[in-house]
Amino acid sequence: MIHFSSEEKRGLYRAIYERRDVRSRFLPDDVPDEVLSRVLDAAHHAPSVGFMQPWDFILIRDASIREEVRANFEEANRKAAAIYEGEKRNLYDHLKLAAIVESPLNLCVTCDHQRTKGAGLGRQSNPSTDVYSTVCAVQNLWLAARAESLGVGWVSILDQDALKSTLQIPSHVTPVAYLCIGYVSEFGAQPELEERGWEQRELLTNLIHRDIW
Ligand SMILES: Cc1cc2nc3c(=O)[nH]c(=O)nc-3n(C[C@H](O)[C@H](O)[C@H](O)COP(=O)(O)O)c2cc1C
Repeated sequence: MIHFSSEEKRGLYRAIYERRDVRSRFLPDDVPDEVLSRVLDAAHHAPSVGFMQPWDFILIRDASIREEVRANFEEANRKAAAIYEGEKRNLYDHLKLAAIVESPLNLCVTCDHQRTKGAGLGRQSNPSTDVYSTVCAVQNLWLAARAESLGVGWVSILDQDALKSTLQIPSHVTPVAYLCIGYVSEFGAQPELEERGWEQRELLTNLIHRDIW
């Protein structure tokens, strides 16, 4: 079938507009295996350069590993905070930017730069396309998670070498996304950074160019 029904279209757009980056309001309930399988399979159906499928998914539930990642975040966040001053620094210090131990499940999505699937098709001009493909998988997962009422929070404030060491990730593999996942009591109507007065959504019309930049 070529066309989506009106209801199917509404569902897709609802997932897009109601997806949020979540780092507070996580509930302790575990994510059932069948639900987790569905969102991982959605990720695995993302587009990828040359059909390379460069991703792997590390499911992290172990408390001591998550504690190590939390300590990594605290240290990286201390350093990140240092570039802000005055009012902005005060606001930054009050933002909640990770839920590594509060969420019941953490997931690291990685990119294997040496994966031979796809035989390098499409990567010769732009080798970064393996990472772009992995990000597509993350977005598929994020939208599917919203449809399953699961919150997802992306934590990028991490020392990457320390994270690789904690998760025993081989040198030719890059951790692309570290995600905190779980059911939530609420999805915000707006991005949390907008709610807190950190940033606003740009007007789409300011971003559209015709023919040339
Ligand atoms: C690549 C990437 C990295 C991000 N890293 C963080 C992070 O370290 N901490 C955080 O609180 N949010 C992080 N976010 C979430 C953004 O802050 C969030 O997507 C943005 O504010 C818009 O909100 P929304 O996702 O709810 O629409 C990240 C998002 C992306 C795409």
